[in-house]
Amino acid sequence: MILVCGGAGYIGSHAVKQLLDCNYKVLVIDNLSTGYKENIDSRALFYNVDIRDFKELDNIFKMHKIDAVLHFAANSIVSESVKDPYKYYENNVLGSLNLLKCMKNNNILKIVFSSTAAVYGNPKRVPIEETDETIPTNPYGETKLAIEKILKWFDNAYNIKYISLRYFNVAGADKSANIGEMHNPETHLIPLVIKTALGEREYMYIFGDDYNTFDGTCIRDYIHVTDLVDAHILALEKLLNNSESNIYNLGYGEGFSVKQIIERVSYVTNSNIKVKIEKRRDGDPDILIANPNKAINDLRFKPKYNDLDYIIKSAFNWHKKFI
Ligand code: UFG
Repeated sequence: MILVCGGAGYIGSHAVKQLLDCNYKVLVIDNLSTGYKENIDSRALFYNVDIRDFKELDNIFKMHKIDAVLHFAANSIVSESVKDPYKYYENNVLGSLNLLKCMKNNNILKIVFSSTAAVYGNPKRVPIEETDETIPTNPYGETKLAIEKILKWFDNAYNIKYISLRYFNVAGADKSANIGEMHNPETHLIPLVIKTALGEREYMYIFGDDYNTFDGTCIRDYIHVTDLVDAHILALEKLLNNSESNIYNLGYGEGFSVKQIIERVSYVTNSNIKVKIEKRRDGDPDILIANPNKAINDLRFKPKYNDLDYIIKSAFNWHKKFI
């Protein structure tokens, strides 16, 4: 049985569905603080538990035969982490430490961990390789890097094997359009542009058009959530086959600017999007692009949806359901 922590969230719920489709038995825990119960596939077992609650977590570990853990449970809004670092250190670092303590006590020795490109901070070069410098520029990235370091020492001391996956910009939705991205408040670019296209917002605000890029707006590497989750399943299978611990970037190795995203959303949704230029958002690097070769070579990661229009269309099909 696979334990998915944070299985009611955007990425976690896609993982639950895809694991079930691959015939894994899935156990979900989530405190529903940012996730939604309706996101959880009905074929999975669900416990409304907070990973910071050691007793409850330990009970679950004792009640079920868990083979490995996929750990998505975290807060992940960069700006919020700057305003409230305590919340991020407590939920992300302390919560993960608690989960790892349960794993150690119950001899569960395999974990796939959700990390982030935010561990790199302002990269000195793109595309970014896993061995490049990690100097986070916000508490969110710091918490994820701290957990990566904890994982390294827990492997060394307790033989817990981990694969840490550093996500670039995750977007899109499952092809069923039954699950998708829904944050409250929404801060991410693609859902916000779609909401503007659907008339839920009057303007799309571009945070800065004076970056050092070809059109002045930030460039990011957008990866479809289904591909991202496929890579998790490959990582899980690698761990189940007794691989060593490792760290991988997950992106496509290709970047799009904020203006390009708005233009493609406008095209795909056939709508006119009104744009206003705002000042820069704190801590946004000019360009973040992954070098995905390590995942392609080691995990045999084969992206199926490396197509910006498809990413947008799948997200649009999901958002359309709520108007
Ligand atoms: N942006 C706008 N207007 C908006 C929202 C976003 O111009 O209304 C811009 C941002 O300034 C940025 C780009 O769109 O340049 C992408 O922004 P997102 O908020 O969608 O994503 P980020 O790149 O900031 O963050 C993502 C993840 C984080 C992770 C980070 C790693 O959401 O969890 O990548 O760098 F930490």
